Amino acid sequence: MRFNNFLIVICFIFLTLALILQAQNSHQDYVNAHNAIRAHVGVGPITWNYTVAAYTQNYADQRRGDCDLDHSMGPYGENLVEGYGNLNGVDALKMWVSEKPNYDYASNSCVSDECLHYTQVVWRKSTQLGCGRVECHNGWWFVICSYYPPGNIEGERPY
Ligand SMILES: *[C@@H]1O[C@H](CO)[C@@H](O)[C@H](O)[C@H]1NC(C)=O
Repeated sequence: MRFNNFLIVICFIFLTLALILQAQNSHQDYVNAHNAIRAHVGVGPITWNYTVAAYTQNYADQRRGDCDLDHSMGPYGENLVEGYGNLNGVDALKMWVSEKPNYDYASNSCVSDECLHYTQVVWRKSTQLGCGRVECHNGWWFVICSYYPPGNIEGERPY
């Protein structure tokens, strides 16, 4: 009896751990995190697109060997990031959104540092996305989100 209870507790701990490790990488995690950031500046929601998602996972898989932050030159807007320590989808978004202070709305330009990852996240006309993630051979994680239609159109404001 005691032993059975012990096993149940162990199983519960493993199940919880598995859920924690999986967390923040689901479609809904990417979508919800994007929509929270978009809502801050009054931009409508973005939805998951499985065609775009298949594209991103395919591209992430191609980067497994080198983990290079090279753009895929595809038809979508594209944000890339890499990091170690099990970098998850929501962490990736946080890194892009950390550029927010560099975006100057008045001049519609980046000041002092990069901001185009952020402006893609909040681009009003980009209403669909897909994201992919892979653990590279060097142990780092590579994350890509692609946006459709693409944002960062010259001469347009994100919102
Ligand atoms: C998903 O994205 C593709 C572009 O790659 C587009 O052609 C398609 O219409 C989108 N799917 C939906 C359901 O909107």
